[in-house]
Amino acid sequence: MSTDPKELPGADPHTGNREIDPVTGYDTTGHDWGGIKELNTPFPRIALIALILTMIYSVVTWVLLPAWPMGRDYTRGLLGLDQQEMAKDHLRDLTALRENWLGKFETPDFDALSDDPALMAAAMPAAERLYQDNCSACHGRNGSGGPGFPKLDDEYWLWGGSPEDIATTLSVGINATHPDTRWAQMPAFDWMEPNELSALSNYVAALPTGDPDSDSDAALLFAENCASCHGEDGAGGLMNGAPSLTDHAVIYGQDADTVLETLKAGRQGVMPYWSDRLTTAEINAIALYVARLSYPATESDTTGPAEADQ
Ligand code: HEC
Ligand code: HEC
Repeated sequence: MSTDPKELPGADPHTGNREIDPVTGYDTTGHDWGGIKELNTPFPRIALIALILTMIYSVVTWVLLPAWPMGRDYTRGLLGLDQQEMAKDHLRDLTALRENWLGKFETPDFDALSDDPALMAAAMPAAERLYQDNCSACHGRNGSGGPGFPKLDDEYWLWGGSPEDIATTLSVGINATHPDTRWAQMPAFDWMEPNELSALSNYVAALPTGDPDSDSDAALLFAENCASCHGEDGAGGLMNGAPSLTDHAVIYGQDADTVLETLKAGRQGVMPYWSDRLTTAEINAIALYVARLSYPATESDTTGPAEADQ
């Protein structure tokens, strides 16, 4: 840079005198923008330091970390840290972890599995995700059921609530296209007289609430037409898909109107089978998850109410 005062910024090229801004006391650059003069203020030191530091930082990171693309490859950096490799390693670990517990569900001893808290801690959250993905659309987020779709979080079961029974239900489905599917058909009783139907509906609606008149014509109709599937007095428990009609667990509804509808048209709920969509181990893991919905997960044995098949 020249030391000639006439060439310094803000200096008059003839006299070398610099113009000082009277308000701030700074030199001006000598540039005059139609009466507006530019101050010759120095670049702020703090910004300069920050700029230098970030430049040093970038040079250091270029050297240490993967940075420059080089055709198909890239500079690896002295530390060799590679996010892509790290992600792959992480995924490998996760898969190994999953295989680790999933393998145990291949031919499960459900009692032993439930007694292993570490295994349950790894497996049940994954089983819950499988449940949410595959089942919650019909059975509700937490197995709460809905009209036409049985509750899975209570102790009343059509086909048994042990993990083994549930696994079978999942594998073959109910009224599904699997050759070994569970078969559950509520026939239509449209051939009955309307007065018989309505008496029967009222009788069935009264089953869970109080004591229905067991000497009535309706009770006789029930014994003749219904008890073979729904059990004596409608108590169910025959493992044929026909629900107990004496408890408060209902699939379609047990008010007289809904029962009348059921009797007139019959019912045949379809539960799809899963053996070609999920692996055996996945089915078993979901089965254990569902079995545990009906009793506290902290209980380690499987002999909770879940096994009290209605
Ligand atoms: C498309 C709807 C649908 C989906 C999806 C579905 N279910 Fe079902 N499920 C049903 C219906 C309907 C029934 C009752 C069939 C009947 O009325 O006999 C049923 C019955 C069951 C039963 C028998 C309940 C008992 O009391 O014995 C179990 C257990 C069950 N489902 C579990 C599952 C699980 C676990 C999944 C996910 C893998 C699943 N369901 C997915 C519709 C579905
Ligand atoms: C062949 C066996 C069979 C006979 C006979 C039968 N049911 Fe059913 N019933 C079933 C099955 C299976 C279901 C469950 C259907 C389903 O879930 O889709 C059912 C369901 C019902 C339901 C619905 C329960 C609910 O939770 O919503 C009612 C009510 C019912 N039956 C009443 C009767 C009455 C009353 C008779 C006699 C007139 C009768 N059933 C005869 C097999 C039978």
